Amino acid sequence: MDDLRDKYLGRITAAPDEATLEAVRLEAVGKKGEIALKMRELGRMTPEERQQVGPSLNALKDEINSAIAARKAGLEDAALDERLRDEWLDVTLPVRARRSGTIHPVSQVTEEVTAIFADMGFGVAEGPQVETDWYNFDALNIPGHHPARAEMDTFYMARAEGDDRPPNVLRTHTSPVQIRTMEAVGAPVRVICPGRVYRADYDQTHTPMFHQVEGMAIDRDISMANLKWCLEEFCRAFFEVDGIELRFRASHFPFTEPSAEVDIRCSWEGGTLKLGQGDDWLEILGSGMMHPKVLAAGGIDPDRWQGFAFGMGIDRIAMLKYGIPDLRAFFDSDLRWLRHYGFGALQMPMRHAG
Ligand code: DAH
Repeated sequence: MDDLRDKYLGRITAAPDEATLEAVRLEAVGKKGEIALKMRELGRMTPEERQQVGPSLNALKDEINSAIAARKAGLEDAALDERLRDEWLDVTLPVRARRSGTIHPVSQVTEEVTAIFADMGFGVAEGPQVETDWYNFDALNIPGHHPARAEMDTFYMARAEGDDRPPNVLRTHTSPVQIRTMEAVGAPVRVICPGRVYRADYDQTHTPMFHQVEGMAIDRDISMANLKWCLEEFCRAFFEVDGIELRFRASHFPFTEPSAEVDIRCSWEGGTLKLGQGDDWLEILGSGMMHPKVLAAGGIDPDRWQGFAFGMGIDRIAMLKYGIPDLRAFFDSDLRWLRHYGFGALQMPMRHAG
């Protein structure tokens, strides 16, 4: 009995893994194991012998079973320890800066524009990108035959077979939000409307989708002087360059009368663009006094109210401010471009006192 105990307890302690341990278990206390065989021999013993050997065999069987259980627990602990060692992870390591995303220049500039106009009392309004013919054109005094419709290289949406209504369009500018805002809030009102617009055009400075911000202020006595002040104030704050100078050049838009295009003084000396100096002028936006028909289309009485409006390319002023040469790259999703021109999530829009 002692030999048996020594043999199996030794092998159990030495078992290097659970498979070996299971083999030892079968050999010792399994149905056909050595203890079971010895139990069978009890039948051939005298009752006295049986009374002595039986309980000892049972006790040995219990002892071996508990040694196996203890060894098994030990092996499981060791396996877990090893896994914990292998799968170790230092959660205190700093994040890899290169892996974090950046704010796209369009988002950054939209935030900057919004912050500057917010300081001048302008709210933000939005409208749909799929727009009706009425909001995109007619309500803005651009009738069916008007050349502006052709000039805008419009994307038309398909209508169902047999539907004779004029097709919807991908809005070609943010100006339809003027009409929607007048309908929704009436007058007086001061808003900017940033958003995506679409035109079938593609080269270094044109992409089929780009961004504009519309501005609109309506009150009893709004004038061109207010328009000029707001735009000069905006440009000084936005471009963060001393000596920013604007030129208001007479122009024509169907939705404004009078109309002005606004240029910013710049120089191209040495092949690089500098704002606020030089003898060149760069167009940055269109503007004017809202046409009486446009006010009327928005449900506002042009005999009691007047307003100014302007429209500016967000991508375009982003290119100017941050020296980004090609518009197409804005929408290529090239990670190197995004890392180079993108902004950190915590870089707040700048606001310099005007
Ligand atoms: N909607 C014009 C365009 O996309 C820009 C524009 C010009 C908007 C004059 C205006 C404005 O509000 O007054 O080219």
